[in-house]
Amino acid sequence: MNITVIGPGAIGCLLAAYLTRAGEEVSLLDYRLKRVTLLQDRGIAVDGERETFHTPIKATAYLTEIRSTDIFILCVKASDTAVVATTLKDAIPPESHLLTLQNGMGNREKLSESFGSDRVFAGATSHGATLLEVGRVRHAGYGEIWLGGTSGSSSNKASQAILQNLAATMNRAGLQAHVVDDIESILWSKLVVNVGINALTAILGVPNGELLKTPTCQNIMDRAVAEAVQVASGCGIKLQLPEELERVRAVCNSTAVNISSMLQDVQRQKKTEIDQINGAVVRMAASLGMASPVNEVLTALVRGLEAGYNVEGDKP
Ligand code: PAF
Repeated sequence: MNITVIGPGAIGCLLAAYLTRAGEEVSLLDYRLKRVTLLQDRGIAVDGERETFHTPIKATAYLTEIRSTDIFILCVKASDTAVVATTLKDAIPPESHLLTLQNGMGNREKLSESFGSDRVFAGATSHGATLLEVGRVRHAGYGEIWLGGTSGSSSNKASQAILQNLAATMNRAGLQAHVVDDIESILWSKLVVNVGINALTAILGVPNGELLKTPTCQNIMDRAVAEAVQVASGCGIKLQLPEELERVRAVCNSTAVNISSMLQDVQRQKKTEIDQINGAVVRMAASLGMASPVNEVLTALVRGLEAGYNVEGDKP
């Protein structure tokens, strides 16, 4: 398959490396020329518990250098989705599809506004990846990928065939992908996981597994998750609280040594996804007339961390 991964962060590099190694035609698109040059020189090294491998990568800053793409996989931070969608709106050919494999809420909607919902898919992953440096990623937790359509792409036969093909391609590459009917619930479950883990690890500066070691931490995690589950229910998504709490703990365990994406952002002094994760819960709760005090505090604290960054601190 011809695949373009947008964004050379931890998940972007992980996908690009696995898919390239499996023989797919993969390009990695990035807006930063300096980082593109590094990726071209270094390729991508994956440092996993089960295996370590290296693969060359076709990195570019110019869409015009990519011959054709069946599917663009968006792996940029959720805070950058709107700008990517607007910038690439006229440059992505009409026959190409797009998949958002990002954290947080609102990505599908932003892509659908620019490209039409019949070309847009949504996905979630439980693979835990940490970017160690440009082009070097630690595969800290072996997870899965769930893929599904939007209202438009689910009813479009050609789009469904592309999605099935993508899942088969990812499976051949060893990425454990499934096409599911109800991606909405999965996106909410993933949001709930991120709500429980990301802000707390960013605030405390600890790997995911540490959250389970302190009862007070677990208590904050549980309350943040409970608020998100209530908001999901207000939006018509029925999640069971005990199962969701269990899921968040299971992800903490399976990615125990992983540095969450939000902590990675804070360590690099980059804008976090707090507004699309805990902040999204706060906004949705408010619109439903519900309270979400724990998520409010977590959001405020992460915004406080962002406000304390050095001005020059914007590392790749
Ligand atoms: O954002 C992240 O870091 C990941 O989604 C997860 C699953 C919490 C693992 O670190």
